[in-house]
Amino acid sequence: MAVNMKGKSLLEINHLTLEEIYQIFDLSTSLKQKRLIGEPHSVLEGKKLGMIFSKPSTRTRVSFEVGIYELGGYGMFFNQNDLQLKKSESISDTAKVLSRYLDGIMIRTFDHQDVVDLAKYGSIPVINGLTDLHHPCQVLTDLFTILEKRRTLKGLKLAYIGDGNNMAHSLLHGCSKVGMNIAIASPSGYKPLDFIVKESKINAKYMGSKIEIFDKPIDAVKNADIIYTDVWASMGQEKEKEERKKKFAGFQVNSKMVQHAKEDYLFMHCLPAHRGDEVTDEICDSQNSVIFDEAENRLHVQKAIMALLM
Ligand code: CP
Ligand code: NVA
Repeated sequence: MAVNMKGKSLLEINHLTLEEIYQIFDLSTSLKQKRLIGEPHSVLEGKKLGMIFSKPSTRTRVSFEVGIYELGGYGMFFNQNDLQLKKSESISDTAKVLSRYLDGIMIRTFDHQDVVDLAKYGSIPVINGLTDLHHPCQVLTDLFTILEKRRTLKGLKLAYIGDGNNMAHSLLHGCSKVGMNIAIASPSGYKPLDFIVKESKINAKYMGSKIEIFDKPIDAVKNADIIYTDVWASMGQEKEKEERKKKFAGFQVNSKMVQHAKEDYLFMHCLPAHRGDEVTDEICDSQNSVIFDEAENRLHVQKAIMALLM
């Protein structure tokens, strides 16, 4: 039976039930098919989505804008300097004002609490398009992509090699919610936050899956069905780039490392990739790589999210 998600916000994957996650996947498949055969699907006719960006973006920006347009609605882009937000106006007042004009808000920013507050004080759905803590739209898309390629999620092993950042957090929540095993390898000082690991362990226990945190990449990659990595310095950490390069030496996903995974492993990356740092060209462009399918699927999955919430 369909679950009613109308009016809800999407701040992090951990707030979704398993039924809601699969409902998003089912609708993503159907919208993807409709787009492919050219069947109109204007289910958000006349709806307006505000898109607030305090950080740069290629995929999120373009896929949300194209997505709302294809659903019959209209997207409005605001960069950090376009709004009074957090300069001469509080988040709560901004949330109340925008709720009088718009039908939904997608926001990419630094502090996750800002997104929580926007949803708390507004009366329209808020979709998290990346904060320092989470990237739920990306990971829902990643799980959808794995499901397309492998027909199942439960019991698969995903190895995440690199920084314990927003991607690691949303992958921990996402994999544990759907019963996938996840093994993370990060250098000391760069592990995912304890409270996210704890929340994910609760999910994993319920689903009968495993969460492992390692120091050495090879321990995580052993027998993996999926190898995932992300940049070593995220947006906002540009000044730490050189320092991080040293700390992450040995964490590059390359042809030597992938030998420890299953032969038909999938290589995934949210992109943008810093080729030559966290991953080599050879791996990015290999037969195992599905990075551009992930990028395409952002469009289909986010259209489903908007259609269900707005
Ligand atoms: N993966 C992702 O969110 O890409 P952008 O930063 O280009 O939006
Ligand atoms: N961890 C990266 C993800 C980009 C999609 C960042 O926050 O910059």
